[in-house]
Amino acid sequence: MKEVAILGSTGSIGTQTLEVIREYKEDFELIGLLAKRASEKLLNQAREFKPRYVSCYENPSKDWLEALPKGVKFLRGGEGLHALVEESQMLMNAISGTEGILPTYLVLQKGKRLLASNKESLICLRRLVKEKRDIIVPVDSEHNALFQLLSMVEEKDLKRVYLTASGGPFRDKSLEELKSVRVEDALNHPTWRMGAKITIDSATLMNKGMELLEAINLFDLPVERIDILIHPQSLVHGIVELIDGSFIFHVSQTDMRIPILYSLFYPNRKKYPFERKSLIDLSSINFERVDTEKFRSIPLCKWVALMGGPYPTALVGADQIAVELFLEGKIGFLQIVELVEEILSQASFKEPQSLEDVLSLISWAYEKGKELVGR
Ligand SMILES: NC(=O)c1ccc[n+]([C@@H]2O[C@H](COP(=O)([O-])OP(=O)(O)OC[C@H]3O[C@@H](n4cnc5c(N)ncnc54)[C@H](OP(=O)(O)O)[C@@H]3O)[C@@H](O)[C@H]2O)c1
Repeated sequence: MKEVAILGSTGSIGTQTLEVIREYKEDFELIGLLAKRASEKLLNQAREFKPRYVSCYENPSKDWLEALPKGVKFLRGGEGLHALVEESQMLMNAISGTEGILPTYLVLQKGKRLLASNKESLICLRRLVKEKRDIIVPVDSEHNALFQLLSMVEEKDLKRVYLTASGGPFRDKSLEELKSVRVEDALNHPTWRMGAKITIDSATLMNKGMELLEAINLFDLPVERIDILIHPQSLVHGIVELIDGSFIFHVSQTDMRIPILYSLFYPNRKKYPFERKSLIDLSSINFERVDTEKFRSIPLCKWVALMGGPYPTALVGADQIAVELFLEGKIGFLQIVELVEEILSQASFKEPQSLEDVLSLISWAYEKGKELVGR
């Protein structure tokens, strides 16, 4: 039995992780579920899956606590997080945004296997991620694909890797049209159903830029050997190009439960227990170059990757506040990347050395964003 905990169990990835576990109940002992709020959804998950612990950062009502099944213990946020890390063999970190940094840190420090979905932490905890690479299984579909592909090729045969991007909902819009994009439009992703932060990041392509930074740390590749291609169908998740002129693609239907299934059973493979599409049902496959005039997040993230030092971490904090301000209607769509650029232009720090340094740089970038917009 695998002892597993899910951090961010009520979100898009967390829920899909439980869908996989539901199909393979006998293989798992669910140590804990952790979320932010004492929501009905968290309660229902606890009632169905009966983990050892359920935990959140909000104070649950008396009724909520009384509705927990016998044997399921409630722990408040911080205490819950530590108990889950201590008692599990592997943890899925599916917490969104910068809140996922501390959990990744604790999991890796304790030497537990990290099923890594939260991308912000993989960018900011560069040294730790490099040092603990052996206990990390990437869940993000692109990195999961590259993780699998790179295990099949020798370093000496590798020319470069490609990250694919759907292009988001605004791939065909002109720069002029992007000025008037509304929050509802940006939240409507064409191929993936995800939480709000990553959906907005996918619309600006900041998500892909961040994935570039994530890939550098996960696979120890320089930025020059990672390319980004627009691939609207989201079927090819990763590509490796070999020195002999061949390319190897990782293809699967658009379903995050596939990389989740892989990560839960790694290094073994298990049958996909959901509706399977044949290659004939999948559409044709196209690739395009990124329009960097329209999507300035890509050259920005490449610059950040080249500069290194404080910039990747500052970018994560800056993007967190920029997306929040956009969702609150305080800034327009194109201003998301402009604000991130403005914050980075004022970041004169050294590369963070400790968790405290990381968190304080993020908080600096976040507060700087608020100050610049006058929130
Ligand atoms: N969704 C995807 O397809 C996808 C693909 C690749 C990578 N990712 C990455 O996976 C991560 C999760 O994405 P998502 O789309 O699943 O996000 P989401 O749907 O917004 O869910 C976020 C989860 O995190 C919990 N959470 C938020 N703040 C927390 C805190 N301070 N402490 C504990 N739990 C907290 C939320 O709890 P409440 O429900 O109580 O608020 C919820 O369970 C992100 O880093 C994203 O970039 C997602």
